[in-house]
Amino acid sequence: MSTRVVRHIGELITNDPSVGDGTKVGRIRDAALVVDEARVLWSGPDREAPAADEMIDAGGAAVIPGFVDSHTHVIFAGERSDEFEARMAGVAYDGGGIARTVSATRAASRDVLRSQSVERVDDLRSGGVTTFEVKSGYALTVDGERELLELAGELSDEVTFLGAHVVPEEFHHDRDGYVALVAGPMLQACAPRATWADVFCDRGAFDVDETRHILSRARELGLGLRLHANQLADIGAIALAVELDCASADHCTHVSDGDVELLASSSTVATLLPGAEFSTRSTYPSARRLLDAGVCVSLATDCNPGTSYVTSMSFVIALAVREMGMSVDEAVWSSTRGGATALRRDDIGHLSIGARADFVVLDAPRAAHLAYRPGSSMVARTYRAKR
Ligand code: NIG
Ligand code: FE
Repeated sequence: MSTRVVRHIGELITNDPSVGDGTKVGRIRDAALVVDEARVLWSGPDREAPAADEMIDAGGAAVIPGFVDSHTHVIFAGERSDEFEARMAGVAYDGGGIARTVSATRAASRDVLRSQSVERVDDLRSGGVTTFEVKSGYALTVDGERELLELAGELSDEVTFLGAHVVPEEFHHDRDGYVALVAGPMLQACAPRATWADVFCDRGAFDVDETRHILSRARELGLGLRLHANQLADIGAIALAVELDCASADHCTHVSDGDVELLASSSTVATLLPGAEFSTRSTYPSARRLLDAGVCVSLATDCNPGTSYVTSMSFVIALAVREMGMSVDEAVWSSTRGGATALRRDDIGHLSIGARADFVVLDAPRAAHLAYRPGSSMVARTYRAKR
């Protein structure tokens, strides 16, 4: 395998506390990084850089691990900008618009869905994302959800079944029937095509008992668990995520003191999605409160047409720092290694020796520019290891 050395890195963030300045982000100034086509081979001071087959001159720019976006809904048809405008005029988000995207997605051909989804994936990638999770959830029929997962599998190897996104219109008079469909034939058809199962456990979506039933069945079929938890109201979803040992409780917009304690003593990551608070004009959760209690925090885009039509992790970092009390280092860690932890992966999200060679060269000398210059793409080039 051919090797490559990246020289003259102004600031290298490795997320390996055993190297560099000894902080959680393992920062090395005036650094070099050596990789082959798949893995990281070496990192250290530039003056000690070993030779390699190819040399890339970073010219003093910062290098960070590729972003790991652990929560997206990039497969959908249509758009809902009218809802966004209404929200900016004071209308609250209640999840009702999901049905409109379900109609548009059901009506779209597979080719149209694929090409529109690929465009969003290209946006993620050009913004430095090297791994992303993608959910179903906009078909809500057995065949439709299975097809969305097939398409998701073409785009990513982190695929999540979200048949329990909302109760579709045709089941409005039989919600128990829909829960039984999801927990039975739909999961049976979808489990072989997914890694994860998720439920929108919230006011207006699925309650704690329905969610427990669906996710328990998903676990029996071998899926890992994650949860949309307490985005709109505190209905006990975070406690359920911890009870079920979900890899991640996502949103956590409404968090009680008890939830903070439960999360801190669990291996469930709190994935914060500030694009959703931004786009629904909601109060941001305090990342500071979670971090100070010892909770592992991840950041993700939640890219979807309703609450967060966001494909930029740089923008998410800027929001996290400005609005949720995170330091730049914390936000960079949470959008890389935090995302990996939320996907229970230890081969990505960091640049320790042996990690996947997924990294981003920024168009800036320090990673702080990700938050300091919001609205600009600070990503010069994304390198993704061979899979
Ligand atoms: O994560 N809250 C549930 N699901 C999405 C929104 C989906 C939509 O509005 O289309 C979310 O925010
Ligand atoms: Fe979501």
